[in-house]
Amino acid sequence: MSEQKMDVERGHAFDGIQEYDNPLPRWWLFIFYTTVIFGYGYWVHYHVARTGLTGVAAYDAEKADALKRAAATKPMSDDLLLAMAKDPSTVAAGQKLFVQQCAACHLESGAGKIGPNLTDDFWLHGNKPTEILKTISRGVVEKGMPAWEPTLGGERVRSLAAFVISREGTNLPGKEPQGERLGTVK
Ligand code: HEC
Repeated sequence: MSEQKMDVERGHAFDGIQEYDNPLPRWWLFIFYTTVIFGYGYWVHYHVARTGLTGVAAYDAEKADALKRAAATKPMSDDLLLAMAKDPSTVAAGQKLFVQQCAACHLESGAGKIGPNLTDDFWLHGNKPTEILKTISRGVVEKGMPAWEPTLGGERVRSLAAFVISREGTNLPGKEPQGERLGTVK
């Protein structure tokens, strides 16, 4: 910008104040455009493409991750399985597997067909979270319930148990009650 062009009045006054027609300083423009570009990138990342996780979703993802790590390293406990049964992403993963692997005998809803109704208060092999996990892992082979740990592995079996626990006590009408009335663990 040449000196001559500086401090030329625009011929526009407001409240008796004369305006100059000077360009904005470069450093100011640099910061301004940087924030515009950053803001645009931020908006696309979090709100348009949704490649970034916002608050609640990031928290849920971290929690699911922590549970997975705890499940892989600590011995399984009723409390840990109950926490997994309350974690939406673990339950959703379990539900997906349940529909694929278990629905043929227990129905998609879990209300029972060849296998028992898993949503009622009656249980053949116990309803403590660790007992449910054990039934799914080892099966009751002589009665037609396969063992799932050998084919699916520990992590998937745990998410299946979490799903079954999350549906316990929803009492969907289905197969007649089998086993002992135990109530729900939740
Ligand atoms: C081929 C049929 C079949 C498939 C597939 C099957 N189950 Fe079963 N399931 C059974 C039968 C039959 C029983 C009852 C066993 C008995 O009478 O002791 C049972 C029992 C159970 C029980 C114990 C219920 C109780 O009252 O204690 C759970 C939990 C269970 N199944 C979960 C699952 C899950 C999870 C899957 C999928 C990974 C699955 N089952 C797949 C047939 C099946």
